[in-house]
Order: sequence, then C-alpha cells, then structure tokens
Amino acid sequence: MDTAIRDVHEGDLTFSTQPAEAGLELALEQQPGAIIDLVDQSGLKGCGGAGFPTARKWRLAAEQAADRRYVVCNADESEPGAFKDRVILERYPDLVLDGMTIAAWAIGATSGVIYLRGEYAFLRPALDDCIARRRSTGTLGLDVLGRDGFDFDVIIHLGAGAYVCGEESALLESLEGRRGHPRNRPPYPVRSGLHGKPTVVNNVETLAWVPCIISNGAGWFRSLGTAQSPGLKLFSISGDVDRPGVYELPMGTTIAALLDRVGGAGAKAVQVGGAAGICVPAEQFDRALTFEDVTASGAVIVFGPDRDMLQVAENFLEFFVAESCGQCTPCRIGNQRLLEGIRDIRRGQCSTDRLSGLLDLCETMRATSKCGLGQTSPNAFQSIIAAFPGDVVGRSAKSLTWVQEVRS
Ligand SMILES: Cc1cc2nc3c(=O)[nH]c(=O)nc-3n(C[C@H](O)[C@H](O)[C@H](O)COP(=O)(O)O)c2cc1C
Ligand code: SF4
Repeated sequence: MDTAIRDVHEGDLTFSTQPAEAGLELALEQQPGAIIDLVDQSGLKGCGGAGFPTARKWRLAAEQAADRRYVVCNADESEPGAFKDRVILERYPDLVLDGMTIAAWAIGATSGVIYLRGEYAFLRPALDDCIARRRSTGTLGLDVLGRDGFDFDVIIHLGAGAYVCGEESALLESLEGRRGHPRNRPPYPVRSGLHGKPTVVNNVETLAWVPCIISNGAGWFRSLGTAQSPGLKLFSISGDVDRPGVYELPMGTTIAALLDRVGGAGAKAVQVGGAAGICVPAEQFDRALTFEDVTASGAVIVFGPDRDMLQVAENFLEFFVAESCGQCTPCRIGNQRLLEGIRDIRRGQCSTDRLSGLLDLCETMRATSKCGLGQTSPNAFQSIIAAFPGDVVGRSAKSLTWVQEVRS
C-alpha cells in the first residue's frame, strides 16, 4: 500500500499529475461497456458519503430503456467540515468535466449538470470559462473529440444553501424547480431521475478520479488502499490541528497517522464524516479510514483536549434542526428532542431514564427517517455520549449505572 499522505498546499496530489484530457481521449477509444467494466475493476466507490460502487450505478443507468439520460455532478458540499470538493473544482475543474464526459459516454447521456452549492457562487465564473473553453476545443458539445454522434454538454445550476439539497433526490427536485424535498425511493435516480429519466448522480471527487483511473489503469487504483476500500481519497481536515487543509490519503490510513501528519497531537477526539459522521475518541485512533469503518464524506474535524464534546454535540444538533426539511416526523421532531436533551444534559437536568429514551429515539430516527439526513443525524449524539460518558455523569450527578448501559 502506498503510505504517502499528500497535502494540497504542496500541490502534489495525484490529480496534479494527471495529463489534460488523457483519460477522456483513452475512454472514447473504448466501447461504453468496457469503460464501465474498467471502473468496476478499479473498485471506485462514491466519495459523496455512501460509498456506493460507481460502476454499478453507471451500469444500472445504462441498462434502462430511455430516450435521454443525464449525468449530475453533486457539488453541493454542505456537510460541516467538508471543503475538498471546493478545492477540486478550483484547481482541477477539467478533471471533473472529463469525468462527467466519460460517465456520459459510458451510460449514453447527452446532458450534464453541475449542481453547485450556493455559497460556492464565486467558483462559477471560472467554471463557466472552463465549460466555454471545452466547447471551443471540442471536449464538450457536438461530436465530442470528433466522436461521431457523441454529443454532450454541461450546464451549471446554483443551489440556494440548503444542506438537504445535497441528498441526491432532493437535489433533483431542486433542479426541476421545486422545493428540495427528498423523494420516496425506489425508484432510484438511475431508473427515474432528472425529469423522470435515468440519471447518474456522482460526487465531484468520484468524477475526478475517473480520468485518473482510465489513464493509470484499474490495477493502479486497486493496488492502493485496502481490499474492500481500494484507492486514494481526499479528506478535508479542520479543527485543532497545526496544518488544516485538504489531504490525499490511501484508504486504510489510520486516524493516528493522519493526525501525526496534520499536527493534531493531543487530540481527544475526531469527528469523521462531518456532523452526520461519528465521533472517534483518542483510544480508538488506531482505526483505519475505510468505507467499511469510518470514512463517509471525507470531512475530519479534530477536537483538542480542552473541547467540551457535549457542546460539540449541541452544535451539530442545532445544525440538523435548522436543516431538516420537515417532511417526516422522526427527523423533524427527533432532532428537536435530541437538541433539548443535550441541552438538559449540559445543565445537569437529564435523568438516566430520559437519556435511555433519547438513545432509543436515535434508533427510531435511524430506522424510520425518510432520507439520509434523519438517518444519520443521531450519529454524533450517540457516539459522543458513548465516547464521553464521564462528561455526562459529571454534569447530571446521576447514577453511574447507565454508563454500562450506554457502552453495552
Ligand atoms: C443530507 C445529505 C446531504 C448530502 N450532501 C451531499 C453533498 O453535498 N455532496 C455529495 O456528493 N453527496 C451528498 N450526499 C450524498 C448523495 O445523496 C449521493 O449519495 C451522492 O451524491 C452520490 O455520489 P457518489 O456515489 O459519487 O458518492 C448527501 C446525502 C444526504 C443524505
Ligand atoms: S429525514 Fe429529515 S431531511 Fe429527510 S425527508 Fe425526513 S424531514 Fe426531510
């Protein structure tokens, strides 16, 4: 396994070494099915949080009978602590557009959309220039790179600042001009997505890896990382570290190795996956960053020894209460109840029974919420309570017995 951790500030990410258009040119020399097979062999998984195999998504979209298909680049990036997609769009926009064009070739799409986070409006002029340049050089538009009959163009759609619009079905609703409310699924977007047509929604980083994989070979990506989580991944590192920023890591890197590299000595915990992720206490820093353990969207927030972790949990819950779209009760009411609970815990006014009820509520929210927001919003509450039971006991001065309950 390549053990290098690369820093975007030093400009040495793998993306920096990818020759312009090389992956796209190579891809268009091959049949669409062969490209999907190659991405499959690489083991590339979605970098937007869920880690869904990219090739499987593309194959499903390609298999649908349809007169039109779409490729959507999810550039909503509103997970607290996440900023890697912004850096990719700023520094490597052509790689993202190459990835979208390769996806379009693979599934037979003619139109693409970059759904750009509203707060990233400042990126739009450069992205517009990039798209215009590609149209004039034939890497977008009619007969892309002289490939007869392969027409593909991309537009940019600016979001309006709702976290839930990063969820792919809410994003599609928003693209169609409606309120960004998650849809019932199935059907999934690969069957019925934008305007009811098969649609591949991929994260910015997922798409940027595609041309690198085509250029360097599926075996190259497979040879990095771990068996179940192949390849490299970008992480946004923030919080109590000496060198915050975007880092490229081989999957399987331990949290301890990452902290060593970014100057996070003495950290008491890290939140992996942003507000929707989980809190990992110092005694578990030997855990590896892999899709099967603690990866999610690639946002890592580091908490130094003086941080009040219950305040951190309260802060995350305030975020979820504000960002819940309100469509379903477990999320709309559940997050509010968890917020009230953590506030009472901090005031020393939460009984053991109430805490136990709140932990049950977390499971109910996870099982019954309509979309990933409500299914993952209890993560931080649960993992912080489990990791720092002493903080809770210290405040509530209640029986210690629940500590065993929480941990069991
Ligand atoms: C509340 C919520 C917010 C999300 N925000 C984003 C986002 O900003 N960017 C993103 O790529 N995926 C986000 N996702 C995941 C998407 O729904 C989807 O899984 C992803 O865009 C698929 O791309 P991938 O397969 O390349 O990861 C979010 C999911 C949820 C539930
Ligand atoms: S889980 Fe939350 S964000 Fe998702 S649909 Fe229900 S209320 Fe909306």
